[in-house]
Amino acid sequence: MMCGIVGYTGPRGMETILLVGLERLSYRGYDSSGIATIYNGELSTWKKPGKIRELEATLKNFTIKGHVGIGHTRWATHGEPNELNAHPHLGNEGKVAAVHNGIIENYTHIKQKLSEKGHIFRSVSDSEVIPHLIETYLNGSLESAVEKTVKELEGSFAIAVISESDPDKIVVYRKGSPLIIGVGKGENFISSDVNALMPHTKEVIYLDDDEMAIISKENVIIKKSGNIVQKKVNHISWDAAQAEKSGYDHYMLKEIHEQATVSRQIIAKSISKQNKVGFKHVESSMTYLEKVNRFIIQACGTSWHSGLVGKYWLEQYARIPTEVDISSEFRYRHMISRENEIIIALSQSGETADTLACIREAKSKFFNVLSFVNSKGSTMDRESDGVIYTHSGPEIGVASTKNYIAQLISLYLFTIFIGRLKGTLSEEKADKMIQSVKKIPEYIDSILGNTDAIKTIADKYYLSREFVFIGRGVNYPTALEGALKLKEISYIHATGYPAGELKHGPIALIDAKLPVVCIAPQSDTYNKMIANIEEVKARKGKTIIIATEGDTQIQSLADDIIYIPSFCHDLTPILSVIPLQLFAYYIAIKLDCDVDQPRNLAKSVTVE
Ligand code: M6R
Repeated sequence: MMCGIVGYTGPRGMETILLVGLERLSYRGYDSSGIATIYNGELSTWKKPGKIRELEATLKNFTIKGHVGIGHTRWATHGEPNELNAHPHLGNEGKVAAVHNGIIENYTHIKQKLSEKGHIFRSVSDSEVIPHLIETYLNGSLESAVEKTVKELEGSFAIAVISESDPDKIVVYRKGSPLIIGVGKGENFISSDVNALMPHTKEVIYLDDDEMAIISKENVIIKKSGNIVQKKVNHISWDAAQAEKSGYDHYMLKEIHEQATVSRQIIAKSISKQNKVGFKHVESSMTYLEKVNRFIIQACGTSWHSGLVGKYWLEQYARIPTEVDISSEFRYRHMISRENEIIIALSQSGETADTLACIREAKSKFFNVLSFVNSKGSTMDRESDGVIYTHSGPEIGVASTKNYIAQLISLYLFTIFIGRLKGTLSEEKADKMIQSVKKIPEYIDSILGNTDAIKTIADKYYLSREFVFIGRGVNYPTALEGALKLKEISYIHATGYPAGELKHGPIALIDAKLPVVCIAPQSDTYNKMIANIEEVKARKGKTIIIATEGDTQIQSLADDIIYIPSFCHDLTPILSVIPLQLFAYYIAIKLDCDVDQPRNLAKSVTVE
């Protein structure tokens, strides 16, 4: 399950704190939610299928009291999203409540064993075995019951537990799924990510695997294998307001519009006054970078698309052979590690289960790992040998937008950095590349100034049930990303192809009803791209073309055209994707889809 967990112990209104936390975590899962609290030694739970607002409406009919509580927002893996399968789950006697993020792989075995002893299970969720098992061990402290329970659980999990037997505590345990403790004064919090903690505290402790925390309003005690461990309290620099909609209708739209600012931030943080690119968390920890002779990039979804673009840059300018793989495939390949090869992991969240598993597998084979992550303090951040932060701030919309741009710019800057380091890039060329990067923010602003025109085109095509996206070279991944954006938020089937591949099969799809989005900025393959668009036109396909400002030649081939500023060809993926993000957004709006929380998805995919 990819879910959100929150918890609070302290004097403030339990209901508000848990609900605000769940709302801020709802991008992690949003098919049902629930809370449990203890008041006067008695446990109560409230659960509801649907979005958090359903739970909120239910809670209005009750007075929620108590100073210890946990909450959960669910993305279903085992069992449909109904009230029974919603968390928190209770033990057999209803004295223990638990919320869980992850998957308990051996739950059928545990369930059967407990059923034989007379336990009655109310749901079909794997998670329900957790409070049942804890209850069976509750003859000492809650803490020792949790310790015994987790020894029996197989799989990945983050759990938070409260019990009538220990009414002032929340006990949490992490094995494979993220869990963060927010440290307050006379109050403490837990959450699956920092986003839910930001309105309350900026002091956080990241739990590592196999760590347990016993949390009361005055104290946080962390243990590993029974021994107390001292953990660093980290300060979060993000501002709570950054995770608000700030007047936009949706987070996605706000995040699309933040892309110029994000690119300015990256430039300010990574390029020195002397025009040198620097990454302090890489230079200090990965001194062997100079010797690298192959990169293997692995990532999922949108992050994989930025990896595909990165390959072009790293090979062309740094002259380093680069492979790109989807993490869920890579982790089961029998990777061969050779000297001086480095794994690059790309991830917005830094928690994606498949990408994280690859990192661990790679490290076990003695690869060095460099991660590009947005979430500071995330598991990938902590487990990688070197880290490049993508500085895009909290990204809440499930469809990744600003972090894609941030990953691309960071990969380009990294290419310059490594090219200089290895001597494969002349100083003159590197300077030119840096000058180009500095133009990105103003070009993004100019594309965003054209939003109305893109909306008009979206309004024209929103009833089409299928789209094809084509591009070449660095803009082939743009075609993949444009198609992914459209399908994930509007539920319209869309596929991206390298334009040259059309004639090998996909061209059979083209008829007068099929819109084909052609990403065709000026480039060394521009004429080839024109030929491919001609092929589409010859079969009466409708063409929506992304072209370079001033390109009049292409107009005769376009049913609709969106211009992007004239820019060095390599960097066009950073610009050409923006109209596609807006196109997907406005189609989804026209179809009345929930763009920030599309069905069946979750922002942070913490299960395999
Ligand atoms: O957090 P990550 O970058 O590791 O996430 C990878 C994918 O799950 C993510 O990019 C996903 O494809 C987005 N929904 C795309 O918009």
